[in-house]
Amino acid sequence: MAPGILATPEAQTTNIVPKHVFPENADSAEYARSLDASDPLREFRNKYIIPSKASLRSTALPKPAPSDDDEEGIYFCGNSLGLQPKCMSKYIQAQLDTWSSINVYGHFREMENSPLTPWQSLAEFAAEKSSRIVGALKEEVAIENTLSVNLHLLMASFYRPTPKKNKILLEWKAFPSDHYAIESQISWHGYDPKAAMILVDPDQDHIISTEKILATIDKYAEEIALVLLPAVQYYSGQFLDIPRITSHAHSKGLTIGWDLAHAAGNVPLKLHDWNVDFAAWCTYKYMNAGPGAIAGLFVHEKHGKVEYPHGEDKPVFRHRLTGWYGGDKTSRFQMDNKFRPIPGAGGFQISNPSAIDLASLCAALSVINETSIEQLREKSLKLTAYLQYLLLKDTPSDDSKRPFRIITPLEPSQRGAQLSVLLKPGLLENVSEALQAAGIVADQRKPDVIRVAPVPLYNTYHDVWQFVQVLRKAVDA
Ligand SMILES: Cc1ncc(COP(=O)(O)O)c(C=O)c1O
Repeated sequence: MAPGILATPEAQTTNIVPKHVFPENADSAEYARSLDASDPLREFRNKYIIPSKASLRSTALPKPAPSDDDEEGIYFCGNSLGLQPKCMSKYIQAQLDTWSSINVYGHFREMENSPLTPWQSLAEFAAEKSSRIVGALKEEVAIENTLSVNLHLLMASFYRPTPKKNKILLEWKAFPSDHYAIESQISWHGYDPKAAMILVDPDQDHIISTEKILATIDKYAEEIALVLLPAVQYYSGQFLDIPRITSHAHSKGLTIGWDLAHAAGNVPLKLHDWNVDFAAWCTYKYMNAGPGAIAGLFVHEKHGKVEYPHGEDKPVFRHRLTGWYGGDKTSRFQMDNKFRPIPGAGGFQISNPSAIDLASLCAALSVINETSIEQLREKSLKLTAYLQYLLLKDTPSDDSKRPFRIITPLEPSQRGAQLSVLLKPGLLENVSEALQAAGIVADQRKPDVIRVAPVPLYNTYHDVWQFVQVLRKAVDA
């Protein structure tokens, strides 16, 4: 354990997390550097391309060549788009070389010295590597499409409204794409979204208590056809209690799905053990697979069964929208138009996936899987606790006198890497300019929030310390 940090384990519903207490001298560059020096994951930063301050300012390609006086930028935007792993170009190049050398044979031929499998098994390979990150059996994960598309596909299977039960429970400030997807699914089935969308409000500020969600489930249980919630809320950074909410929804006979956009690669998940019905995530945030990269989905094994009680030609399986890549590999190329789904999440695939997209995800996963989500979480908890400590240090206890406050839960088990900082009205522009001038990339959400996500794979304690110095000066100015 790093010097000066006391870890006091405390039981939470979802996990047990240490609380970090920092010493008097913690607010110094030297102290931050001492934490970096003893960080067991410190070598991982070298596996990513850290943008320099000069490259962050560039407006044309090629990007500026590194120079001795060029400082590294500070990147806190991994909750939006993760940094590029250095091995990315090798994986993409291997894919281009396979295509240009053996062309169509690349579907089935194993290539020596390639980090990739033949294209026909690449999605399965990526699914297996992803499954350990989300706590799933390998058969419960499929890699395809993008997040919003996968949410639609999953709702096509799991949202089966009836005149009596057609409501979807979601949160008050769902990410717009989730909100639109839900809205359009409801109207696609001929119901009125205004009446059928149950939005759970926050208790106070931006945080929704588990009790409130459970009570809303109870209130509308007879009318709800689906519960769809974010594991980590994109705006507040709140990490919801997935096992408790899932189990409660099930106790009322309801189906529940989770959007893991801000959770996959960020917080430990046990989708299988928690008995989650379905989930979907993008891979360009904490997974670092690149802008708009191919996405993942989870279908619990209980929903992925394929049985043949009426003979070979009449499989019995859960309804879904289908395409030939969901068909069993042994019969996929028989072209007999008899759909026999792959058992598990694989049976929810539709198209031949882009091998370039899969190559980028495989590159990204190859780095994450050199460590584990548990180790990443251990560092993440310390890193974010350090950020919280510095942000709150020496600030007035009276909320109205503070230039900013943290709206993310201060309880570490209820958040991932991100802290959302709500600035006093009128400060955002100043702060954004100061951060940009200092080569710090953080995400701003108008009117007054900046979201800061120190990512354990590549951010340092020193990054955090520098960020807080710049923020303090900007709000004082
Ligand atoms: C919570 C959430 N849902 C949905 C999306 C949309 O993802 P995509 O554009 O990949 O479909 C995002 C993107 O950031 C998100 O954060």
